[in-house]
Amino acid sequence: MNPVKVMSIFGTRPEAIKMAPLLLELQHHREIESVACLTAQHREMLDSVMSLFDLDAAFDLDIMEPGQTLYTVTAKVLTGLGQVLEQARPDLVLVHGDTTTAFSAALAAFYAKIPVGHVEAGLRSGDNLSPFPEEVNRKLVGQIASLHFCPTVRNAINLQHDGITNGVFITGNTVIDAMRYTLDKFPGTFGNELDQIDWQGRRVITLTCHRRENYGEPMAAIFRAIKALVEAHPDVELVYPVHPSPAVQEAARSILGNTDRVHLIGPLDTVQMHALLKRSYLIMTDSGGLQEEAPALGKPVLVLRRETERPEAVEAGTVQLAGVEEAEVFRLGALLLNDEATYQKMARATNPYGDGNASQRIAEAILWHFGHRGKRPVDFQPGE
Ligand code: UD1
Ligand code: UDP
Repeated sequence: MNPVKVMSIFGTRPEAIKMAPLLLELQHHREIESVACLTAQHREMLDSVMSLFDLDAAFDLDIMEPGQTLYTVTAKVLTGLGQVLEQARPDLVLVHGDTTTAFSAALAAFYAKIPVGHVEAGLRSGDNLSPFPEEVNRKLVGQIASLHFCPTVRNAINLQHDGITNGVFITGNTVIDAMRYTLDKFPGTFGNELDQIDWQGRRVITLTCHRRENYGEPMAAIFRAIKALVEAHPDVELVYPVHPSPAVQEAARSILGNTDRVHLIGPLDTVQMHALLKRSYLIMTDSGGLQEEAPALGKPVLVLRRETERPEAVEAGTVQLAGVEEAEVFRLGALLLNDEATYQKMARATNPYGDGNASQRIAEAILWHFGHRGKRPVDFQPGE
């Protein structure tokens, strides 16, 4: 039998982090010819992941521009991929999650009549406007894809509600596989101002905030609450690796800039970021990936959003929805800093999102689908 030609198309930091372990896994199978195609919706943040995981891409659309819009990203990915797909003619295109790259790449593959596999399928917040535009992106990818790799059972149930029942596999999330790779690679120092922090004597809050639906007043309210939280707790240091998006940079600098014990730094590479999470007392974030990583490390998370498509860790008790109102974000942060019992209840390692073998299950599912395996892979079941 000919090898299955699998083209993985991705373009942002979170997609790269979560596709990296899968690309490494696909390379191990002689029945698979794996090629990567970058849209480069992100540039430095994407390249940093590629080099950490020692990955190369056969194609690179190199589309990023400062202040890009949803229109320009979508159009550039679609036209760029038209040529790549006609030239390479893969048997399967893999896309990840819910970015504009994922949606546009799935659409391009559909136009080229190439089947699509959706990694991290079936997440739903239930609100088309939040996260925006991600909720609609992932629904549309779900309609296009033939193979759906769901991190959890709940994700598969979400797909059933959309009428999708064929080609659904429960695999765990590849982000847990990625953490296996990164966690023991930290050299012990960050090589920046974080090395000045007294990690024994201080409690570190790690903040990330970049979602489009939080732009403007919600983000300003979140930053004011967190600034007040730091000022009210002299043993707290805030570390915020700020997303390079100009809208986020401006809000962060104007409210949190020049504040004692606040470290506004550039994006960290993923090895550094996972090391930072491990050393943190508390995580405050509107990021998707951090809601999966921090629970695995036993770190409480306050989610700076009104909803989440990742309710599993909320149910396990290690993640709490804090919303975007200033008083409530402050109140919940202060509770975790001042009430030991509340903190300890949330600070438990829990792993509803994976066991580190998601990439292997996805590779086996692809091989089974294309007739290279006699058996379907066994679905992921979270343990304690
Ligand atoms: C996108 C994804 C979002 C994901 C986020 C991850 C969509 C619709 N949204 O956010 O789901 O959580 O990426 O970070 O696809 N920039 C750089 N260098 C980089 C990356 C970005 O300078 O390496 C700057 C550029 O000015 C760019 C801006 O950041 O224009 C915003 O990037 P973009 O990918 O458009 O961000 P979002 O759509 O907000
Ligand atoms: N991350 C990183 N460096 C940073 C901030 C985040 O490597 O400075 C990682 C983080 O650990 C997680 C991923 O980036 O794996 C999350 O990406 P992001 O928040 O950009 O997107 P989202 O997950 O919200 O889509």
